[in-house]
Amino acid sequence: MESMKTQLSFDLLSGIDTELLAVLAADTQTAKGHDAKAEPVLLTADDAVKAAAAAVLASGEFKAGANETLLLHAPAGLKAKRLLIVGLGKQAKATVHGVRSAAGTAVRFAKPRGIRELVLALPEAELLPPGPCVRAAIEGAFVGDFDPDTYRSDRKDQSIESFTLAASGNADQEAMKAAFAEGVIVGESQNFTRSLVNEPGNKLTPTVLGQRASAMASEVGLKCEVHSTEKLHELKMGAFWSVSQGSAEPPALIVLRYEPEGVSEGPVLGLVGKGITFDTGGISIKPSDKMELMKYDMAGGAAMLGAMRAIALLKPRVRVIGIVCAAENMPDGKAYKPGDVVTAMSGKTIDVINTDAEGRLVLADGLTYAKQLGATHLIDAATLTGACVVALGTTNAGAFSNDDATYARFDAALGTSGEKFWRLPLGEEYAEQIKSEIADIKNTGGRHGGAITAAEFLKVFVEETPWIHLDIAGLAWVEDSKPYIAKGPSGVAVRSILEWVRSY
Ligand code: BES
Ligand code: MN
Ligand code: ZN
Repeated sequence: MESMKTQLSFDLLSGIDTELLAVLAADTQTAKGHDAKAEPVLLTADDAVKAAAAAVLASGEFKAGANETLLLHAPAGLKAKRLLIVGLGKQAKATVHGVRSAAGTAVRFAKPRGIRELVLALPEAELLPPGPCVRAAIEGAFVGDFDPDTYRSDRKDQSIESFTLAASGNADQEAMKAAFAEGVIVGESQNFTRSLVNEPGNKLTPTVLGQRASAMASEVGLKCEVHSTEKLHELKMGAFWSVSQGSAEPPALIVLRYEPEGVSEGPVLGLVGKGITFDTGGISIKPSDKMELMKYDMAGGAAMLGAMRAIALLKPRVRVIGIVCAAENMPDGKAYKPGDVVTAMSGKTIDVINTDAEGRLVLADGLTYAKQLGATHLIDAATLTGACVVALGTTNAGAFSNDDATYARFDAALGTSGEKFWRLPLGEEYAEQIKSEIADIKNTGGRHGGAITAAEFLKVFVEETPWIHLDIAGLAWVEDSKPYIAKGPSGVAVRSILEWVRSY
């Protein structure tokens, strides 16, 4: 992956020689109702840019709606060849996250038009905090630059070669540079996750995922071990192994360690990801409609790898262990079957009702292993249930926790990441639904509250350890492209997990 070059400029906007200068605009109209006309204003103090855009803004053709765009060629008085105005929506409701999207929109506007280089002007500091804006804009530019067409022979490499953020007029340059460097790391890490999720099941087997993880680990300086079947037996990971046994592809237990020098006390954070490289459902086979999308069933694992990459580069003062349980869920003569009873690493016995509820099985052993390796706090991410998509749609991902203080840190992290998670409840009554006649628990709890009973299943293995569970089934794959992101893998949860880790 040839990565976009990025730079931060403090030059005067009107003097910047570029193919495309993008500036933000917001609607200052506060009245509501039908005849309340939009009153768009440019969010820049640069008089030359304002003058170049004055006529078109006065025309009423452009309303500065969120991610609305308008292009001017040969803008008068500017060195730039084109001026792109990107809407932020209502000024009173402008957010840093809106700037993230707007940056993505500018990049995705340029890409199909053969424009390889652009400059985005940051909004004025009075409107939004400059540091967070810098970081968000860089992240948004990377997110916008990603397209999933890896295997098209007519793939036009439309990637942006150079993206410049212009922070002219804004004060604290050192702080901006630091925020800029962070944005590059986070944006590249999120795209690393997306490139993994995008890979088809035949290309990205558990073994290959292990290779990709270890290549990344050596690039950024993380310790990495990748184990397979033998180690699963040795650790008595009966739940994880059961899922893998129906596939000709061996499983991979990926273990990454981030151990900052001089940190030998305090919490150890355990990041555990579901890495089902393809989910057919197994013997409880899925219908064929949309089954091809089940290549993204390793998105939780890929999110953990992206987060670990960012952690290694941003160097927080806390120890972190990353675990990905990778396997392929297939029907076969050797596959595990409904009615099988399997013994998890923790010793708990599981009544397999449905082989399509495989994610919770691999995570059960992954969570137990993370605790055994010393994790004091756990977070897992998984494309775990269709029920979560039914409950929350594709706008919010599901979140669960057994500890309010731990969740509070995650909730605060969402403010920085701009990602949407909605906390759902846990409770004794739900746990009742996964009691089994023959074993300690069963792996499905019926149709009611499916996302919650899946979380209750994981909780049995987490026990008393403070834990957060993220069900990203509805958000890991973008079904319809948006102005700022392509259809395909989203890389959701990378940024939030990272910020949660950095809160320690
Ligand atoms: N990987 C699926 C969940 C999923 C569904 C992810 C849709 C993304 C989009 C998971 O392994 C699964 O099959 N879950 C079952 C659980 C059921 C059998 C209790 C489901 O949600 O139907
Ligand atoms: Mn499944
Ligand atoms: Zn699955």
